[in-house]
Amino acid sequence: MENKWSFSSLCVRESKENRTTRPHILPIYATSSFEFESIDEGMDIFKGDRQGHVYSRYGNPTMDAVASKIALMEGYGVEGAQDAHCIMFSSGMSAILTLILAVLKPGDKILTQGNLYGGTTEQFKKIIGKHGIQPVFVDLKDSNVVRESLANDDQIRMIYAETPANPTLACIDLEFLGGLGQAHNVYTCIDNSFCTPYLQQPFHFGIDFVVHSTTKYLNGHGNSTSGALVGRDGDLMRGEIWQAMKLTGTNCNPFDAWLLNNGMKTLTLRMDRHSENAMSVAEFLSQHDQVNTVNYPGLPSHPDHELAKKQMKDFGGMLSFELKGGLDAGIAFMRKLQFCHLAPTLGDIDTLVLHPASMSHINIDPKLRLANGITDGLIRLSIGIEDVEDIIEDLEQAIS
Ligand SMILES: Cc1ncc(COP(=O)(O)O)c(C=O)c1O
Repeated sequence: MENKWSFSSLCVRESKENRTTRPHILPIYATSSFEFESIDEGMDIFKGDRQGHVYSRYGNPTMDAVASKIALMEGYGVEGAQDAHCIMFSSGMSAILTLILAVLKPGDKILTQGNLYGGTTEQFKKIIGKHGIQPVFVDLKDSNVVRESLANDDQIRMIYAETPANPTLACIDLEFLGGLGQAHNVYTCIDNSFCTPYLQQPFHFGIDFVVHSTTKYLNGHGNSTSGALVGRDGDLMRGEIWQAMKLTGTNCNPFDAWLLNNGMKTLTLRMDRHSENAMSVAEFLSQHDQVNTVNYPGLPSHPDHELAKKQMKDFGGMLSFELKGGLDAGIAFMRKLQFCHLAPTLGDIDTLVLHPASMSHINIDPKLRLANGITDGLIRLSIGIEDVEDIIEDLEQAIS
């Protein structure tokens, strides 16, 4: 290949790709911007007359490929969800924040539950609340309360829910929320991080938005931090919501998107195994004499077992249980674990254990903690895909 530049310029100039065939695996497009072949192409793309990438904060082929797959997964087999569109974010938190900033305005209210992921509750109270959008916390399982709240307050413009929810894995009726949202012309959004679209598709029940901490099960390997927002209304997603992402800079990045893409390939295998293992662990724990209660929607004894069967394909990998002996028993149990890991995340392929009273909720007023069902002896498990015998053996020796 001929070179007509100086040595220094040769070093600086971007090398042109020589490849002749398409890569089998999605490349990481580690580029902040995209070059135009000509000024005409640039003008067309800026005007929106031609499709093309401009700047990675606006969109990037690696991030967009992952987003398209998540949109297809959430809309899979759902009538009327053909136009569903997904945008990738830097985290689950930024996906939630950007959605709310994009579709709500000061004076609007969000009807939600008290037992959301703690970070989401804090975001609603400390960030969104400060800008005039108020969260209203009710028991979303109480249909009368939800109906009355909507009937009596037309400032409620969004219902936001998580199902199953920490720490009791309580399930909220998606069909009820979806129907009510449509009847009142109020947006509905479900955090589907615990289930992934393989186990639960809120769009089947008329829900408008699905949000994910893709840091969790969708990635599955604990090596990527990102979030996704999927909306049934493709125009709204490509319009106001994309604008909000672009202008707040809450975008994902190509490397995390690429790691997520790798993880998603084994999603169904992992979720089947997570669910199977969690069921065995739940059954083991329910028969243990040192355990008070086991919260797993797959157990027929769980108060929401029938609802979970209706709206979930399987029951997932999350469960919690309460040890007899309270705080001391909880701390002693955590100290003795050898196989399971003490980590404050969930959805990874290995088993992760959290004792909220001594870890994530140590600085929270015990009364507030208890009001949300987080008792002193409560242990949260994110059951991995290891051989279940090893998980059970570790739990057994740590409990006794
Ligand atoms: C259910 C749920 N939603 C959202 C989030 C926030 O996601 P991220 O940590 O990716 O911002 C978390 C994080 O733990 C979560 O558990």
